[in-house]
Amino acid sequence: MDDKALSGVRILDFTHVQSGPTCTQLLAWFGADVIKVERPGEGDATRGQLRDIPGVDSLYFTMLNHNKRSVTLNAKSRGGKQLLESLIKHCDVLVENFAPGAMERMGLTWERIHELNPRMIVGSVKGFGPGRYEDCKVYENVAQCAGGAASTTGFDDGPPVVSGAQIGDSGTGLHLALGIVTALYHRTRSGRGQKVLAPMQDAVLNLCRVKLRDQQRLERAHSLHEYPQYPDGKFGDAVPRAGNASGGGQPGWILRCKGWETDPNAYIYFITQAAVWPAVCKVIGEEEWITDEAYATPQARLLHLKPIFARIEQWTMSKTKFEAMEILNQYDIPCGPILSMKEIAEDPWLRQSGTVVEVEHPTRGRHLTVGNPIKLSDSPTEVTRAPLLGEHTEEVLLELGYTAGDMKALRDEGAI
Ligand code: COA
Repeated sequence: MDDKALSGVRILDFTHVQSGPTCTQLLAWFGADVIKVERPGEGDATRGQLRDIPGVDSLYFTMLNHNKRSVTLNAKSRGGKQLLESLIKHCDVLVENFAPGAMERMGLTWERIHELNPRMIVGSVKGFGPGRYEDCKVYENVAQCAGGAASTTGFDDGPPVVSGAQIGDSGTGLHLALGIVTALYHRTRSGRGQKVLAPMQDAVLNLCRVKLRDQQRLERAHSLHEYPQYPDGKFGDAVPRAGNASGGGQPGWILRCKGWETDPNAYIYFITQAAVWPAVCKVIGEEEWITDEAYATPQARLLHLKPIFARIEQWTMSKTKFEAMEILNQYDIPCGPILSMKEIAEDPWLRQSGTVVEVEHPTRGRHLTVGNPIKLSDSPTEVTRAPLLGEHTEEVLLELGYTAGDMKALRDEGAI
């Protein structure tokens, strides 16, 4: 039995760069047949971006397009248009993340697609939803800025900061994938496809939900007691940047560990969870803080978070981040080492779980990638390499019923 969860689902993958490819890669990992359509000759622009080996598909491309097939097709040629229409009839889902209006300029309006295949689901990433910016092109950091992430990230005395996590691109791809499988489920009852739109601004805002929570709390109380601006600093009328403060109800901060003078990642995230406050006091040698009324309750501690973390840091600086982890976990104190990408790449447990995987590629050789972070108990993911440009054009056209003669004509026309 084929145990892939999305086995039998065919995806016409008209995506490029990062947001769309993240979505279709996830669907491919769950077993969908993802047919990536690219422009003849050049393909997805990321194939040639940030190259580390001359003439070889970049890691940018190969790490975002696993488990897919690649077909080259010029959507603006006569034969290419016909082929695209065949693919629309053949597939269940079309996913695209072109600039606003590009699909329509190719003649692929929702009405036309629906006319060709009423069961087709069309998933789109756009920078913005309907409104003043709907026609704008958008990349990752623009979405982080417009979705509220940048204004709430960084330190109070510095400029807005974007995150290393690609919440605008990969975050939106995740949202879109959920929308698509939801529409597929709906189709089992309705028999109809529908449009699924995931605007990047909206996806980032969804991930910044707690900051909109804090905006409303700020408007009511004019202060946010778990923020580093409290009690000495000032609050304005918008949520400020909170440095490394925890976004939740349990105060946390990043603290230096042994070796911090030379290792930029010798730090630990330390949470003074209320439930384990006595244990925290014992570990750092401040047992009188357990009963001292200035420290005994979470409410009282909010007035003293800076000196509390400074004292805990004296302790963490005497340990490496891994030694501190070891000790703190004996007391169930929530904490986490700041791991570098080098440490993550070498982490044996992430390899074991299949989240960090080595993949063989015909032109680049072996390379490391991030596998499927979502684990299904009955449908394990096998990560296969990204396709070469147009590697499956013939194979897919044969499946669609094209003959060798048809293909020659398309080739002569420059359509494939
Ligand atoms: N055959 C023929 N033409 C093709 C083609 C194919 N197979 N594939 C793409 N094209 C054409 C498109 O039709 C479009 O032509 P047009 O402008 O004449 O209509 C053109 O290629 C370029 O597409 P576009 O999406 O405008 O690419 P871009 O490189 O200029 O912009 C983005 C890139 C990401 C800024 C833009 O696509 C965008 O804003 N996308 C939505 C938001 C998004 O996903 N952003 C995150 C990216 S990680």
